[in-house]
Amino acid sequence: MLVGIEGDLLGDSLKRVQREVDAVFDALLPVPSDTRARLVEAMRYAAIGGGKRVRPLLVVSTAELFGVSRDAAIRAGTAVEAIHVYSLIHDDLPCMDDDDLRHGKPTLHHKFDEATAVLAGDSLHALAFEILAEEKTSSDPFTRSELILTLGTASGMNGMAGGQMMDMVADEEGVDYDLHTVTRLQQLKTGALLAASVEMGAILGKAPPEGRGHLRAYARDIGLAFQIADDLLDVEGDVEKAGKALRKDREQGKQTFVSLMGVDKAREQARALVDQAIAHLSSHGKEADTLRALARFIVERDR
Ligand code: IPE
Ligand code: IPE
Ligand code: MG
Ligand code: MG
Ligand code: MG
Repeated sequence: MLVGIEGDLLGDSLKRVQREVDAVFDALLPVPSDTRARLVEAMRYAAIGGGKRVRPLLVVSTAELFGVSRDAAIRAGTAVEAIHVYSLIHDDLPCMDDDDLRHGKPTLHHKFDEATAVLAGDSLHALAFEILAEEKTSSDPFTRSELILTLGTASGMNGMAGGQMMDMVADEEGVDYDLHTVTRLQQLKTGALLAASVEMGAILGKAPPEGRGHLRAYARDIGLAFQIADDLLDVEGDVEKAGKALRKDREQGKQTFVSLMGVDKAREQARALVDQAIAHLSSHGKEADTLRALARFIVERDR
């Protein structure tokens, strides 16, 4: 069954976070009155509205377990989202997935141009770390530094960008990934930023390292499940609802759980991962219900 996000508790939480993240981006991105205007307009076009904001909700919901201020958690969540939005802008470029639809609108390089899309991605990348380095995110410099290190690691060669490289190489002659390698690809390309979101909530909450193990285990499982769900959407989803082009992974030679094991087994695997993720939260009471609901949403979503 594929379900929407409207009308339930999780839907309300996502909508609230969507509004809050939009407000932070809006405040951080005033359009200058010189020839950089196109760059900032492009950043606003990609960053404001559109996304589900799953990553910021993960930061906020984890931070809530530790009583962190909402403002601080939303700022950290917006930083992760800035990296995510930049990764989508670049992912859609002709040199990568070559897509023309994102969030139900023309992709950035179609609406503007390729140079602007590259620079908007670059600037959102930088913005993420500016947000984290500011005192408004945390008055504690060690906390700020830990946030920056976590997001930096999850974004670069040992995280999202590394996974994107593996994804780009997948269709090359003589490259044949086994399940172990596809798992690693997905954990880097998608899992790393989702895991960083949970970790950053715990960092803001100054959770001791020994109190983070079960949250890391939860995050690892939903990270993998999230990309399997995205790959299932590519095969079975509705373009109207997804707001992006579908049925492209096969033609582009992507290697995924779906290409390796087929739709049914991949869905089974994603659901098993979600059950496992939820089991990792057993030491928490209802304060972790949003994290549980998010895990379920991740595999049952239709966009
Ligand atoms: C899409 O991520 C790209 C992947 C990493 C699978 P999302 O599904 O979180 O994208 P938006 O921001 O909600 O559109
Ligand atoms: C993208 O994965 C992951 C990123 C790091 C951006 P996909 O290429 O499958 O994401 P969609 O399907 O275009 O959203
Ligand atoms: Mg891609
Ligand atoms: Mg893509
Ligand atoms: Mg996809």
